[in-house]
Amino acid sequence: MKEFIDADYISPNWDNALFWNKYYSGLEEGSFDKESCQERNAWYLIWVMKSLNIERPARILDAGTGISYLVPFAKYIGNEVLGIDLSSEAIQVCKSRKVEERDLANCLKHGYNWKGNAFGWTYIDRQTRKEVDLMEKLDGLKQADGKILGYEVMDWNDPFLFEKYGCFDIILHQNGLRNASYKLIEKTFKSFHRLLNPGGVLIGSNINAIVREKTFAYYAEDAGFHLLPEHVFWDGKPLQAVEYEKDKKYAVCFYPTG
Ligand SMILES: C[S@@+](CC[C@H](N)C(=O)[O-])C[C@H]1O[C@@H](n2cnc3c(N)ncnc32)[C@H](O)[C@@H]1O
Repeated sequence: MKEFIDADYISPNWDNALFWNKYYSGLEEGSFDKESCQERNAWYLIWVMKSLNIERPARILDAGTGISYLVPFAKYIGNEVLGIDLSSEAIQVCKSRKVEERDLANCLKHGYNWKGNAFGWTYIDRQTRKEVDLMEKLDGLKQADGKILGYEVMDWNDPFLFEKYGCFDIILHQNGLRNASYKLIEKTFKSFHRLLNPGGVLIGSNINAIVREKTFAYYAEDAGFHLLPEHVFWDGKPLQAVEYEKDKKYAVCFYPTG
């Protein structure tokens, strides 16, 4: 079997809006299925905020938001969130759809073991082994005053982003650089470093994070980020409490993504 290396993942189309528009309109082979669920692992956000005591409302940028549910999720737990993407098709989907609480509850399933039967899915707490109700868990996380600042068609490397919105406390970046070239990763981490407030965190996750780990770590540190200890592999447990300094900017990349 072929061993994949970092360079095998590089796609020349990664920051090409036409490529992504085709993908989100279902025209590209293997592309987005409108029936599929767009939940993403929300625990990375919840636990990073908790571990670092980040106050709400935090200003959050979901960079390369695609059509995932992380923007409405981050709003639900009391934050001010902006979603941007190069793809106008993706942004159109985000603006026009209605996201239900059930969709947000699904973003929590990655924190549990789950099994299915004819009646649906059962979720089991990994420590207590007891069944959990995702809707109840979601309700416990709800905080008032969250706000979606908007969904915009925008390049995360465009200086206008800073001019219009200023800096953020958290940048979410799920699968945002999975197949990006070294040059694009370098440029992106520098832009994100400028866009983050001191004490802020760039939270990345990538399905191929283990293969691309050294590249992400190299360019993140080169841009001036400090890596959080959980960098890359997440074993399903709450994150460690971290001593952190409010004048530094942090980055963490997780696997698996969800
Ligand atoms: C693999 S998708 C991930 C989407 C979403 N975060 C998710 O988890 O489903 C990568 C996204 O990054 C967007 N993208 C790539 N380069 C970009 C750039 N320079 N600025 C803004 N968005 C970009 C693409 O349009 C695409 O929607």
